[in-house]
Amino acid sequence: HIYLYPIIIQFLNNFLNKLPLQTLNNLIIKNQPYVYTYILLLSMSSNMSRVSSVCDVEDTPEDRYFLNNPKPESLDDLILKTSNFMNNCNKSENNDKIVLVTSGGTSVPLENNTVRFIDNFSAGTRGASSAEQFLFKGYKVIFLHREFSLQPFNRHFMRSTNVSFLDYFDSNGEIAPKYKKELVEMKRLSDLYKDQLLMLTFTSVNDYLWALRSIAILLNNRNCIFYLAAAVSDFYVPYDKLPEHKIQSRSEFQDESKKKHLNESGKLVLDLDPVPKFLRNLVQTWANNSMIISFKLETDPNLLIVKAKQALENYNHQLVIGNLLDTRNREVVILSEKTDDETWIRMTDEELK
Ligand code: PMT
Repeated sequence: HIYLYPIIIQFLNNFLNKLPLQTLNNLIIKNQPYVYTYILLLSMSSNMSRVSSVCDVEDTPEDRYFLNNPKPESLDDLILKTSNFMNNCNKSENNDKIVLVTSGGTSVPLENNTVRFIDNFSAGTRGASSAEQFLFKGYKVIFLHREFSLQPFNRHFMRSTNVSFLDYFDSNGEIAPKYKKELVEMKRLSDLYKDQLLMLTFTSVNDYLWALRSIAILLNNRNCIFYLAAAVSDFYVPYDKLPEHKIQSRSEFQDESKKKHLNESGKLVLDLDPVPKFLRNLVQTWANNSMIISFKLETDPNLLIVKAKQALENYNHQLVIGNLLDTRNREVVILSEKTDDETWIRMTDEELK
C-alpha cells in the first residue's frame, strides 16, 4: 500500500489547487489534524524513491526472514547493553578496536512454547578462547554466545568431564590447593578485562540472527572485526509453521490450526526451511567497513578446503578459518581473499595442555 501515497497526494493536490484561496484558508484552519496528515503524506511521497528501494531490499530471503520471524523479547535489553558499551568505547580516547565474537551453537525450537528443539555440538571453546586472545591484544570484545556455553576465563572450570564444581573446594570450603593457582590467575584476568568485555547471550537461531543484525547496525560500519565462530543452524521451522504448544505424540491431540506433524503411521514429520545465509548481508551492507572472519566446519577432510574457498568466493569477505569436527581443538586452516595459500596452524600436545 506504500505505493499508493504518491497517487493520494496527486489526487489531493489537484483537488486543493482548484479551491479559492479563502476556502483553502478556512479548510486548513478547521482541519488541522488532517493538514498534518497531508504534510506527512507529502513528505513520504517525496521520499518514495528511497522507500521503494527499501521495498526492493525486503524481497530477499534474508529481509523476509525478519518480517516473518518475530523479534525476541530479550532484544531490547541486548540493544541497550550494546549501545552503552559502544558509548563507553566512543568516549575513550584510545580509539578502541572492537571485535564481535560469536560462539556456541544455536538451537531450533520445534514448538513455540518450547519443549523440544534441534541442537548442535558446539561447546563454545573456540569462541571463548579466541575472545581471551582478543582481550590480551587490546580489543574490546562483544561476546555473543549461547547461554550456558563456555565463557572467557571461566571456561577453564566449566563443563569438565573429570572435575566437578565441588572438587574445586576442600572440606572447609577453601579452594583446593591443586586448583588455587589457576583459579586465582583466571579471577585476576577476568577482573582485569571486565570493562573491555560485553557478554550477550542467545539460545535459538532466531535470537542469534536478530542479535547479529542489531549489533551490526549498532556498530554502524565502524572499523571492527566480526569473528563468526558460532555454529549457526542451517535449517529451522519458520514462525508461521511453529506449533504453539508441545507436539503431541498421539494424533487425536494434534493442534489442527498449524500443519500436522504426525503422518498416518504416527511418525513425526519435520518440515524445515533453510536459514538464509546472513554472511552476504554482513559483507555487503550491515558491516561493509568491517573485517569479516567466518568459520567453515566439515567432517569430510576432502571437502574442507573446497568449501572454505567456495565461501570466500561466494561472500567476498576477508578470511575463512576451516576446521574438522574431530581435530578442531588442535588444528585449523586459514584462507584469505588476498592469497591462494592455505595456512595450517597446528598445536602440539604440550601447547594443548
Ligand atoms: O564451539 P567449539 O566446540 O569450540 O567448536 C568450534 C566450531 C567448530 C563451532 C567453530 O570453529 C566453527 O567452525 N564455527 C562455524 C560452524 C558453522 O556453522 O559452519 P557453517 O558452514 O554452517 O557456516 C559458515 C559460516 O556462515 C559461519 O561463520 C556462520 O556464522 C555463517 N552462517 C551460517 C549459517 C547461516 N544461516 N548464516 C551464516 O551467516
